[in-house]
Amino acid sequence: MKQFSHKELQEQIQSYIKALPYSHEPKGLYDPVEYVLGLGGKRLRPVLMMMAYNLYREDVEKILSQAAGMETYHNFTLLHDDLMDHADMRRGKPTVHRKWDENTAILSGDAMLILSSQFMAQGCPTDKLPEVLRIFGQAALEICDGQQWDMEFEHRKEVSVNEYMEMIRLKTSVLLGASLQLGAVLAGASASDAQALYDFGIRIGLAFQLQDDLLDVYGDPAVFGKNIGGDILSNKKTFMLISALEKANEAQHAELQKWITAEVFDPAGKIAAVTRIYNELDIRALCRNQIDRLYDEGLSLLSQVGVEPSRKEILIAFVHSLMNRNL
Ligand code: IPE
Ligand code: IPE
Ligand code: MG
Ligand code: MG
Ligand code: MG
Repeated sequence: MKQFSHKELQEQIQSYIKALPYSHEPKGLYDPVEYVLGLGGKRLRPVLMMMAYNLYREDVEKILSQAAGMETYHNFTLLHDDLMDHADMRRGKPTVHRKWDENTAILSGDAMLILSSQFMAQGCPTDKLPEVLRIFGQAALEICDGQQWDMEFEHRKEVSVNEYMEMIRLKTSVLLGASLQLGAVLAGASASDAQALYDFGIRIGLAFQLQDDLLDVYGDPAVFGKNIGGDILSNKKTFMLISALEKANEAQHAELQKWITAEVFDPAGKIAAVTRIYNELDIRALCRNQIDRLYDEGLSLLSQVGVEPSRKEILIAFVHSLMNRNL
């Protein structure tokens, strides 16, 4: 049975998305959809879906519509997330609400949300449709839960590491888990394999979001494609900030509190000061350890999936490369 490389799958989904008939009237609604989907991105979720499917079957082109549905849904969350996070840059280009305006980001996002469920249903075998829509719907709604916690935590004084982990499980992990699970379900895998792939995706998603938070402080903007320091500016209760508040001495704690509560501040000054405290406390290494631990947990869950270990190598290599990304 043929196994596709990461690159081959990425190219397949890329050209499928490119050929989607987005450019129709009203342009003001669909141009931003074409714009954001055309900016690329890693196509992580559709690739994971197709890799999971390819563990069992080789006709991966059969699930391109579901894979595109997942990517369209992900991109919808980005439009609204950037508006909520006041983020000006995404994939190295202006975000939709900056290039157009806020109402456009809302309505084009809404259109993408609807398109994503249409793609999800399109061409889906009838016997699998209820399960596919159940998995997709659950993940899609949980992301709203996670995004709401993320916003509420900005204004909460105390957030525990456990609360943070649950928030990122909801806002990020469930979509990676669901992508893998859907790939398995569409391929007709056993329920236990589909569940183990979901659980693997959850661990990888947690590690992925921890790394995204790390790159928000330490990434290279040219590669990361987003402005650095946005999480610091909006007091996101990341693992890094929570750990820094825990580990800080009195002076560091007071300084962190000063920046968190300041209503008027110089943005560059705040980013530099908080980053300096992270450096002093070696928060980067602490975060890296968590990422490695979650990655290892993920691998042991993947080992429970009942296909020959050699068939999992492409998936493992892909996830491994993600954990060491600088993008
Ligand atoms: C960004 O997701 C949002 C997070 C969950 C951190 P990606 O890092 O997968 O973004 P793209 O699609 O590759 O741009
Ligand atoms: C990502 O959280 C969660 C979703 C988009 C649902 P972030 O807010 O950290 O994502 P980026 O950093 O803007 O991509
Ligand atoms: Mg954001
Ligand atoms: Mg966000
Ligand atoms: Mg981020």
